[in-house]
Amino acid sequence: MKIAVLPGDGIGPEIVAQAVKVLEALRADGASIEMETAPIGGAGYDAAGDPLPEATLKLAREADAVLLGAVGGPQYDTLDRPLRPERGLLRIRKELNLFANLRPALLYPELAGASSLKPEVVSGLDLMIVRELTGDVYFGQPRGIEVRNGERVGFNTMLYSESEVRRVAHVAFGIAMKRGRKLCSVEKANVLECSELWKEVMIEVAKDYPEVELSHMYVDNAAMQLIRAPKQFDTIVTGNIFGDILSDAASMLSGSIGMLPSASLDEHNKGMYEPIHGSAPDIAGRNLANPLATILSVAMMYRYTFADTATADRIEGAVKQVIAQGLRTGDIWTEGTQKVSCSEMGDAVVAAL
Ligand code: NAD
Ligand code: IPM
Ligand code: MN
Repeated sequence: MKIAVLPGDGIGPEIVAQAVKVLEALRADGASIEMETAPIGGAGYDAAGDPLPEATLKLAREADAVLLGAVGGPQYDTLDRPLRPERGLLRIRKELNLFANLRPALLYPELAGASSLKPEVVSGLDLMIVRELTGDVYFGQPRGIEVRNGERVGFNTMLYSESEVRRVAHVAFGIAMKRGRKLCSVEKANVLECSELWKEVMIEVAKDYPEVELSHMYVDNAAMQLIRAPKQFDTIVTGNIFGDILSDAASMLSGSIGMLPSASLDEHNKGMYEPIHGSAPDIAGRNLANPLATILSVAMMYRYTFADTATADRIEGAVKQVIAQGLRTGDIWTEGTQKVSCSEMGDAVVAAL
């Protein structure tokens, strides 16, 4: 298996180094893995004047899977938009056709105290958010800033085609089938035509999955319900921007955004794997970041792209073990547990493996 490793910016290189240690441990144990590293985001801009250098895209295309850290940083926020790190990330998602973004939120029982919600609200949480990743207001045309009636206006277009909704619907129903067979489609159909079409297509596709109970919820209510009673959800399917926001909210149910992995898949299950969080400039370069979301993203790589459940379980088991041992990076630390650095956490997972 050939893995393209794209560390990116900020804490990206620190957390990816821990995931690479895990992959190297698996290789030492007989797994046949090749890894090649390339710059993306701000690092791509610095190296090649492009947040998605041609050579990086080529490497990603030729690889079986991509492991990504995070992109972005304040030093890049004033560049022309096409040169910004975030644009590199959006382009690689689009170029590789990674339309289905799986963001699982589950609570390790020992971390109940790290969540900002009451333990009884979050204990036993096991939620999957399926976020559409290559459409919506992120990519819709026209977009821009221009002068109208003597003042500047900024505009973006929220747009979904039926086929875009249908293909992510099939992925989400398929996932719901393997889970609790409950799918909640989240939109804003009371206001937006784009959501009205989304909902119609969801109802159409539901006919192919009679065993799955489909429900609908407006995104504002969904944000509230996620905090009020998150265990009512099994699988959620939603558009790109709503999914971006709701998955960050869901991450706090599990204790920290540093715990949430993701898989971004095309129709052949080729995937890019990355934590849902960003480059965390506030803690970058200090060996403080939580690498578990990135390590758990490697587990998702084994589960979805390599179809190797045993190894995925093994990696997740190692993460469970270090949590059970009481090791915590700062973001999940609570009284009575042992605070460790990013690299110490990585070493502990390798030891547990
Ligand atoms: P962020 O997710 O980077 O950070 C939000 C907060 O969470 C910060 O306080 C940070 O320290 C903390 N945090 C995040 N990951 C952590 C980890 N692994 N361990 C411990 N704490 C962690 O979001 P932001 O501050 O809004 O964005 C910073 C930069 O990252 C921006 O340039 C943004 O565009 C970019 N970003 C990139 C991605 C991505 O690459 N997929 C995702 C989100 C944001
Ligand atoms: C994420 C990030 C990205 C997104 C940004 C950095 C483009 O927030 O992966 O969740 O909005 O998709
Ligand atoms: Mn996000």
